[in-house]
Amino acid sequence: MEKVPFRRYAALLSQYLKPLKYRVAFLAVFMFTGIGLQLVNPQILRYFIDTAKDGGETRNLIIAGCAFLAIGLIRQIVMLVTTYMGQDVGWRATNEMRGDLAEHCLQLDMSFHHEHTPGEMVERVDGDTTTLSNFFSEFIISILGSFILLIGVIILIYREDWRIGFALIAFVIIALIIYNLTRNIAVPIYTSEREGYSKLFGFLEERFTGIPDLRTNGGIGYTLDRFYDENRDVYGRSVKAHVMGEVLQTISGVMFTLGFALSMGICIYLFQRGDFTIGTVYLVIHYTRMLRGPLIMISRQINELQRATAGFTRIEELYSINSVIEDGTESLEKHNTHGIEFDNVSFRYTDDEYVLRDISFQLQPGKSLGLLGRTGSGKTTITRLLFRLYDVNLGTINMGGKDIGTLSLDELRNRIGLVTQDVQLFNATVRDNMTLFNSEISDKEIHTVIDELGLTDWYQSLPNGLDTLLEGTGMSAGEAQLLAFARVFLKDPSIVILDEPSSRLDPATEQRIDQAVQRLLNGRTSIIIAHRLGTVQQVDEIMILQDGSIQEYGDRNQLVNNPRSVFSGLLKTGMEEMIQ
Ligand SMILES: Nc1ncnc2c1ncn2[C@@H]1O[C@H](COP(=O)(O)OP(=O)(O)OP(=O)(O)O)[C@@H](O)[C@H]1O
Ligand SMILES: [Mg+2]
Repeated sequence: MEKVPFRRYAALLSQYLKPLKYRVAFLAVFMFTGIGLQLVNPQILRYFIDTAKDGGETRNLIIAGCAFLAIGLIRQIVMLVTTYMGQDVGWRATNEMRGDLAEHCLQLDMSFHHEHTPGEMVERVDGDTTTLSNFFSEFIISILGSFILLIGVIILIYREDWRIGFALIAFVIIALIIYNLTRNIAVPIYTSEREGYSKLFGFLEERFTGIPDLRTNGGIGYTLDRFYDENRDVYGRSVKAHVMGEVLQTISGVMFTLGFALSMGICIYLFQRGDFTIGTVYLVIHYTRMLRGPLIMISRQINELQRATAGFTRIEELYSINSVIEDGTESLEKHNTHGIEFDNVSFRYTDDEYVLRDISFQLQPGKSLGLLGRTGSGKTTITRLLFRLYDVNLGTINMGGKDIGTLSLDELRNRIGLVTQDVQLFNATVRDNMTLFNSEISDKEIHTVIDELGLTDWYQSLPNGLDTLLEGTGMSAGEAQLLAFARVFLKDPSIVILDEPSSRLDPATEQRIDQAVQRLLNGRTSIIIAHRLGTVQQVDEIMILQDGSIQEYGDRNQLVNNPRSVFSGLLKTGMEEMIQ
């Protein structure tokens, strides 16, 4: 795995820390004060020891003792504030980053989301940023603070005697080099651990979503089997990562013991020569012991840095995936119904076969098109292209006379309302489910739509009106469909796409839905993908797709009156002929 140059961390740090500069400054002041106080205390102790040994005045000893106590106390408070500020800055920065990442993911193409499960996204947006957040919040305090403390200690020891100063500098440098070397060994192990988890979460997410299918098909046992496999895999990766962490700790412990022995040896030698007083020996030993904190901290943080590197690389990777679908700038005329025109459109999801071939049709503003065809013939795909969830491979699609590739995506998607085969309900209130979290839509508008759709009975059965959480109300497929209609009504688009569910609804609900459809289509350009002939009774044009090509396309009335047309054949034999 590639090593992340420090420059890239710095860029990331400064991007997210700049807006927090006052907090960072405050944090720095407290941190430096804390370090200063930590360095002063041993000096007081040396004075105390040497004064006591030379039979100095008791008054001076008491003053020194009080100063020692006071400084110790103040240091604790300063450290508390520093920790608080460090966490504060760290979390603010990472929350910002988490937001940016989530936004980025939501805007990525459908083709990307097909390849990555929601669970994997969660692990990326949350898991990876959390490791980075530790890095952020600890970085300044721990690594930077430790380095400064380290340098302070070395300077002060050096001032006592250059020989011991040099010995300890050499020790610290060797220690840091060894830490840095271990970094390269550890990073791939941590990356692999994270990847294991993200695979596991992805697996779980997908299986939980599919519980009804799994259970009814007796797939639970097999799923559990696979789950154990995945778990074992994560276990292996995790154990490796943790053992690696321990190894790094041990290396640090052994190194420190050697450093301490070195310092003691030199101190004894200098004391015997009479260069050091007993107070100075104490001071140097104390300072040497103080090296331990920052060195362990740096080692742990390098550890942390390694985890962060893994998270960082993956976050950068995610950021570097750009939408293939480029945003346009053009906009459509307001308050208008727009026509749709497909001009020799061909499309394929992957590099194999074309799913749509040479599709051409022209739908005038306000007209409706009924789309029929066997399952898998490409009906839904046509609507996805219109939304620009995917871009066409060949040909062009025009809307309101403009190539949809040149339109702004927001504009395009706002102008089209879609009711799909499976309605995604969110675990939120009825209001949020209808408005899709758009708080600008007033309750009055929602009530109007509920009345219009004939959902009043259902609405009155809700315990808390619009504030009812949808989760517990157990909506039927029909009601969910109606709710999806409500969404489109509230959006008030100029083009409507209806991808009818193939499942059968009870006749009463079917009738309500038909009514809703008629209201919805009124004055709008529409494409209706129908699995029942009843739904296309009112449309203007009919297109029948077969394996991605147009089998028949024309004015509905003409097709009905033409006994040789496929559509009139369908009307005679029923839709089931074709659908099965
Ligand atoms: N995301 C995708 N990646 C690859 N292939 C896909 C994808 N979505 C659909 N396909 C394939 O494209 C073809 C057309 O699918 P599409 O969903 O448009 O059919 P449909 O006519 O809407 O079928 P149905 O009546 O079952 O809804 C199918 O062969 C399908 O397997
Ligand atoms: Mg479909």
